[in-house]
Amino acid sequence: MNAFILSTDDTLRATVTRICMNRNPSIETLPPLPGMPKDGVPAASGKPEIVIVDAASFADGATSLLPRLGERYSQAVIILLSSDRSPEYLIAAMRVGVREVLGLPLSANELDAALDRLSSKLAISQQREGKVLSFVSAKGGAGTTFVAANLGHALSLLGKKRVLLIDLNTAFGDAPLYVSDIKPERTLADVCRDINRLDINLLESSVVRVSPMFSILAAPAEPDPGGDLSGDHLETIVNLARRHFDFVIFDLGRQVTSASVRVLDHSDSIYLVLQQSLPDLRGARHLIEIFGTLGYRREKVHLLLNRFESSAPLSSGEIERILDLGVDSRIPNNFEVANDSINQGVPVLQLARNSTIAKSLTDWVNRLVDTTIAGTASKSGLIRRIFVRGGDSNGAGS
Ligand SMILES: Nc1ncnc2c1ncn2[C@@H]1O[C@H](COP(=O)(O)OP(=O)(O)OP(=O)(O)O)[C@@H](O)[C@H]1O
Ligand SMILES: [Mg+2]
Repeated sequence: MNAFILSTDDTLRATVTRICMNRNPSIETLPPLPGMPKDGVPAASGKPEIVIVDAASFADGATSLLPRLGERYSQAVIILLSSDRSPEYLIAAMRVGVREVLGLPLSANELDAALDRLSSKLAISQQREGKVLSFVSAKGGAGTTFVAANLGHALSLLGKKRVLLIDLNTAFGDAPLYVSDIKPERTLADVCRDINRLDINLLESSVVRVSPMFSILAAPAEPDPGGDLSGDHLETIVNLARRHFDFVIFDLGRQVTSASVRVLDHSDSIYLVLQQSLPDLRGARHLIEIFGTLGYRREKVHLLLNRFESSAPLSSGEIERILDLGVDSRIPNNFEVANDSINQGVPVLQLARNSTIAKSLTDWVNRLVDTTIAGTASKSGLIRRIFVRGGDSNGAGS
């Protein structure tokens, strides 16, 4: 863990540094960067998890600094040291995100106790980092939205995971309608426009809730949201979402843009969706080259064969050989089930739980859940829940 101390008082800084150092495990204190940024908030030489502010070092008790500090270090928890104990001051501090206010002169025991409280909170939130899975099409119409939306639903229903699907198909995205009949009121573009006040409540109020455990943030309706959808915005959303959801799934479609690359950078796995055709193969090869140029490890990229036919002239083995990459999952070709599911806006696991597509989704969820949280979900248990007649298979979160 690390901390950044904002104080012009050398003695106080030395005291806080010593308390941090003497803790077990010790808290590293980050030195400031030279110079002062335009917003007047001192910059740390790293990404602090804790920011400790000495109010006495600032003319107005740091009241004008705190909101900007909260913005700059939105991922950090802020501890304020102040002799002002008036309710107005304390409420104002809490409003801008200060977690703890400690009196001055500083008591070492008080700071230690506050750090104890924060360490356990930080440890819990760090444990809850969700997995980010990105889906990219080798070719338009490969089935990326169908697969991403149905995997999201399956992870929530069978794996009992909290899942958020984010649709990046600007202007053409319609992911919510693949698994529900809900028309989104807000989209990713609205969330990006409100990025400065984004928190989990705002994010939750912007999504389509397919079920208690499965939500979708719809794609921007406008063809070119421009600066409203930047890499920085997407990065902020990924970081927030993965702290509150077990899985954050992105449907990138075919768009590998400078903004969506930031999502790929943060992804634990990239699923390249392709069918058994030469144009798909060419598209996949091109994307694998791009991923190589971006410096992604090969293990991060997974092939997902959609509309799989074991009798197709271009076999799964041949595709693996040409692309020099193993096929991670195969979703069988079943036009009737896929079409009915999309047209009715009902997920495959709900509409046709004994279909071959449902079986392959179940198998995939078992592998994802088993490797993500080893031992928390028994494979046979998951399979029984979906396939045994009379088993509890409808309604996510049940
Ligand atoms: N496993 C499958 N079996 C049969 N048909 C499928 C399967 N998966 C998808 N399809 C069909 O392919 C069509 C395209 O699927 P989808 O919209 O998910 O593709 P996409 O890659 O998201 O397309 P786009 O490039 O437009 O975003 C769907 O209408 C569906 O009927
Ligand atoms: Mg799509």
